[in-house]
Amino acid sequence: MNDETTRLLIFDDAKATARAAAERFAEIAGESVRSRGRFSVALSGGSTPRRIYALLAGDEFRARVDWSKAHVFFGDERCVPPDDEASNYRMAQDALLSLVPVPVENVHRMIGEGDAVANARLYEDELRAYFGDVPSPSFDLVMLGLGEDGHTASLFPETPALDERGAWVAANWVEKLGAYRLTLTASVINSAAHVLFVVVGAGKAQCLNEVLNGAREPRRLPAQLIRPVRGTLEWYADRAAAAKLEGGEK
Ligand code: 6PG
Repeated sequence: MNDETTRLLIFDDAKATARAAAERFAEIAGESVRSRGRFSVALSGGSTPRRIYALLAGDEFRARVDWSKAHVFFGDERCVPPDDEASNYRMAQDALLSLVPVPVENVHRMIGEGDAVANARLYEDELRAYFGDVPSPSFDLVMLGLGEDGHTASLFPETPALDERGAWVAANWVEKLGAYRLTLTASVINSAAHVLFVVVGAGKAQCLNEVLNGAREPRRLPAQLIRPVRGTLEWYADRAAAAKLEGGEK
C-alpha cells in the first residue's frame, strides 16, 4: 500500500497511535502556516479522536501549533444541539478547543440543531467564505475515523450522500440511525492536502482489512471513496485494528 502519497503506519496501542497522530497534526499545521500563513483542518468525531485532541491541548503539543492562524472545521456532525453529549463539536470543544488559544471566530461549527438540509447549505457558505469560490475547498488536513460498518465522516453505507456530486456538504439521511447527519462529501475530502485516518481497536480489524485489501465496494465500504486527488492519504492504526491485515506491513 505504501507509496509516495499513501502510507499505513501501525503502532503498538491506542496511546501510541494517538500520539503519532498528534505529532502529524502539529507537523502539518506548522508546514501550512509556514507556507501559506494559515492552517485549515476538518476534525473527525466519534470517540477515537478524543485522546488526540487531549494530547494537542496538553503541555507537550499545545505550543507546537500556532492556533492564532488555525481555522477549525468539522468533517461531520450529528443533528443535535452543540451542548448535546453526542455532538462532535462538544467533544472537540471539551477536549481541545476550549483549552487552546484558537480565536472563537476561527472555529466553524456545523449547525446540528434545526433543518439539516438548510444547515448543510449554510456550512457550504461558511466554507466558501473561507476558501473562496473555488471548484473544491482544499483543507490542509482532514482527520477521519472508520466505523465498523465502513463509514467515514458521516458517509454511511448505501446512503444518498455517497452519490453527491457538486455539493460540498450533505445532509445525509441515515436510515439505520433514523436521523440526518451533516457531512463533508467525498469529493471535498479528496481535495485535501492531507487526509489522516486514525483507527484503533480490535473491533475495527475486520473492516480495516476489507477497506484496504478487499474488493472495491465503496457503497458498502464508503471509506474506500477516500482517495485524495493530489494530497496524501495516511492510515494510522494500532496493532489491534491492524491484526487482520494480510502480509504485515503494507
Ligand atoms: C462520527 C464520526 C465517525 C467516526 C467513526 C468512528 O461522527 O461518529 O465522524 O465517522 O469517525 O464512527 O468512531 P469511533 O472513533 O467512535 O470508533
